[in-house]
Amino acid sequence: MSDGQSILLTGGSGYVGSHTYVALVQAGFKPYILDNFSNSKKNVVERLERITGLPVPWHEGDTRDVSLLQEIIVKNDIAAVMHFAGFKSVSESVANPLKYFDNNLAGMIGLFKAMENSACRTLVFSSSATVYGDPIEIPITEKSPKNFLNPYGYTKIVCEEMLASLSVSNTQWRNGVLRYFNPVGAHPSGLIGEDPSGPPNNLMPYLAQVAVGKLPILNIYGNDYPTPDGTGVRDYIHVQDLAEAHVAALKTLFKTGSGFTVNIGTGRGYSVMDVVYEFEIACGKSIPYQFVERRSGDIAVCYADATLAKNLLNWNAKLSLTDMCIDSWRWQSNDFS
Ligand SMILES: NC(=O)c1ccc[n+]([C@@H]2O[C@H](COP(=O)([O-])OP(=O)(O)OC[C@H]3O[C@@H](n4cnc5c(N)ncnc54)[C@H](O)[C@@H]3O)[C@@H](O)[C@H]2O)c1
Repeated sequence: MSDGQSILLTGGSGYVGSHTYVALVQAGFKPYILDNFSNSKKNVVERLERITGLPVPWHEGDTRDVSLLQEIIVKNDIAAVMHFAGFKSVSESVANPLKYFDNNLAGMIGLFKAMENSACRTLVFSSSATVYGDPIEIPITEKSPKNFLNPYGYTKIVCEEMLASLSVSNTQWRNGVLRYFNPVGAHPSGLIGEDPSGPPNNLMPYLAQVAVGKLPILNIYGNDYPTPDGTGVRDYIHVQDLAEAHVAALKTLFKTGSGFTVNIGTGRGYSVMDVVYEFEIACGKSIPYQFVERRSGDIAVCYADATLAKNLLNWNAKLSLTDMCIDSWRWQSNDFS
């Protein structure tokens, strides 16, 4: 259990933030949501109240609003921040890089200023396996070289570098950088899950929308990769496991006082076809799909070496691909749109 510290969750009503909110409450922390609802719905707050059985403290606002953030941090005696707020679409970042530089970089700088001004210097940051670009080794360790393939990946690398510079400037900064692999699944209640505002960019929500009849067919980008069935292989991690990783990261920061950078994955890869077959079992329907050309920038195989997370955070993923598909399907079957 925790001492009930207050934790600010920027982007806390989004996909990963909302699941982490629940995990933090269950671990005895007092999370507080700040979100501008650019990619989430306000009624997520009510659904979080249904899950936790408690009022949810939240504020509508933007991470670029330094004085608002500072006021929230001071008024609520915030002990640490989890920074989820940001845009995450690779294709949108290629089409509109400035939108990504503004939100992901200026948003992070706004948060840093507010934290520095209020002497709150403990942060968990949502980074991504995208920082490894086209990886030169599989499984990917935290020591693998960083490289970016698109503006989104570039923003994650720059944010990580900014965090490193802050730690050098002042040793009171304790930064936990979590490099997520591929979060999927939903809360077992079916009340919260991934809720993309436009057409989904990722496999699982796309698959789920085809299964429910919202989209006609699943396009599978490439079946000629050097993988067992020719489709791309990824390290899918249940969002519930990811939420627990945040709690473990926070406890580690408070306990050790030292920052870290860790991969958050399962350490195992599944192909697109593995996911399609498992999802068909979960939803009891066959999924119409077609193979189309590879997408530029996509890589064949990507999965984590998850050893450091186990050793440092005492955390490892527990839920299976079956759990991920069953929970995604339950969430998709409820209509909260
Ligand atoms: N989901 C993934 O596949 C994945 C993988 C790796 C890393 N990440 C990173 O994890 C973080 C959370 O991802 P997610 O899947 O929960 O995304 P999401 O879009 O569901 O959640 C992000 C939330 O932040 C809010 N937001 C965006 N910009 C904001 C701003 N300037 N001020 C306040 N609120 C703002 C949005 O309204 C949304 O509620 C992101 O930084 C993302 O890059 C996600």
